[in-house]
Amino acid sequence: MPTLPPFLRTGQTEMDRDHARLFALEANLASVCAVAGTDEPCERCDPDRQRQCDHRISHLLEEFIGLAASHFRNEERHMVCLSQDEAQRHKYEHAEIASAFARLVAQNRDRPMIARPSEISLILHDWLDGHIVQYDLDLARRIQMATSPGRAA
Ligand SMILES: [Fe+2]
Ligand SMILES: [Fe+2]
Repeated sequence: MPTLPPFLRTGQTEMDRDHARLFALEANLASVCAVAGTDEPCERCDPDRQRQCDHRISHLLEEFIGLAASHFRNEERHMVCLSQDEAQRHKYEHAEIASAFARLVAQNRDRPMIARPSEISLILHDWLDGHIVQYDLDLARRIQMATSPGRAA
């Protein structure tokens, strides 16, 4: 099982497990392209290489989007411990992330590549670190408070 950087660990087993799997998929996505992180356009690679990348990226992206969707549902089930406003803001961020991926795939519809690794990493970097720090750590703390012994009325 892949591990999470300590500052992103929430202490909630299911949440941390999903985040770790998402990080592992991000690493796999980043490793598909030999020139990721450069400005090298995909069109400079030969067509066979482009097809292989497209196939691999499509597969990993599908897996990532599916896992992200089920992860969001899992987190949202626990949001009864948040105020309605807090829960709405957190759910809104989930919806934003999901639509960022949908926009990315739609905008590349006529290109040979479903999404370039650099485009995917931009969204992922923002989300995996930013969202966890800004929203998930607090949700995990509130779940912990709501379920800790001694809190029962
Ligand atoms: Fe999360
Ligand atoms: Fe979240």
